[in-house]
Amino acid sequence: MPTHTDNIVEVRDLQKRYGSFTALDGVSFDIRRGETFALLGPNGAGKSTTIEILEGYRRRSGGEARVLGVDPERGDLGWRAQLGIVLQSTGESGNLTVREQLTEFAGYYPSPRGVDEVIEAVGLEAAQKTRIGKLSGGQRRRVDVALGIIGRPQLLFLDEPTTGFDPEARRQFWELIRSLKAEGTSILLTTHYLDEAAQLGDRAAVIAGGRLVDIGAIDEIGGREARTPLVKWTDAAGRRREIRTHEPATAVAALVAEAGAEPRDVEIVRPTLEDVYLTLINADAGETAAAASDTEQEFAA
Ligand SMILES: Nc1ncnc2c1ncn2[C@@H]1O[C@H](COP(=O)(O)OP(=O)(O)OP(=O)(O)O)[C@@H](O)[C@H]1O
Ligand SMILES: [Mg+2]
Repeated sequence: MPTHTDNIVEVRDLQKRYGSFTALDGVSFDIRRGETFALLGPNGAGKSTTIEILEGYRRRSGGEARVLGVDPERGDLGWRAQLGIVLQSTGESGNLTVREQLTEFAGYYPSPRGVDEVIEAVGLEAAQKTRIGKLSGGQRRRVDVALGIIGRPQLLFLDEPTTGFDPEARRQFWELIRSLKAEGTSILLTTHYLDEAAQLGDRAAVIAGGRLVDIGAIDEIGGREARTPLVKWTDAAGRRREIRTHEPATAVAALVAEAGAEPRDVEIVRPTLEDVYLTLINADAGETAAAASDTEQEFAA
């Protein structure tokens, strides 16, 4: 497989079977150095499977993968030290305090961040002397993120990092990710919070049923049609009206000209990443169902 120096991750035709079940069925994408790449998809789509293959935690059944130019099945300790890993679920030992755990972890890396710096970055100052087993779910998740970044990774894997975070913690996490990005860290992020993906992602891939549904820049994925703005207003008869147009300002001007007055409750609504995502997933589910019923008919015939 050709390796481009700009790509920190390269995945070609990735396959994963668990027994007779196909979890990944030909997924391909690249992650460029310095970018934040969001891997999106419904429960069971294959996101964690993909990430864990790239981390070297699971073996693939087929296809090719390169992480920092290395096949993850052959990555050594030096390779691993350049990765930061926040798994979807972790089984941390509960006996150490937050500070002790971070200090221990920092010792595994050649040039770790300072423990104080990391504690502050994840907002665990007040809990730093608490045993991990006594932390709340959200606090424990912050420890996971802290452990992921302490080694100053070139590439950070974040599998649903903010699950259980309160809104303030999530905003603080976004700031942390922005500062890591500014330092040049490449990031592979999965999340079910589409606002989070829209805030942090440069590009995204949507997968469903182990297959790639779409890939592209975060503000272009899904295509121009799915992103057509909606102009909404209430007409003279009190009815709620709406039109879809790529020229919403022109449409509003026309409304004003027509009515000779300010239209009531006028709004311009742009589809969010969540709207676009749901359109993509529903269209894909429709196609999959149609393909399945074609197969049934073939069997019936
Ligand atoms: N060890 C395993 N053995 C058998 N099947 C598995 C195993 N791990 C995952 N699967 C199956 O593979 C599919 C993909 O799972 P995966 O955990 O990658 O999904 P995901 O996209 O991360 O979902 P979620 O959003 O719920 O975390 C699921 O159908 C899951 O049941
Ligand atoms: Mg998962």
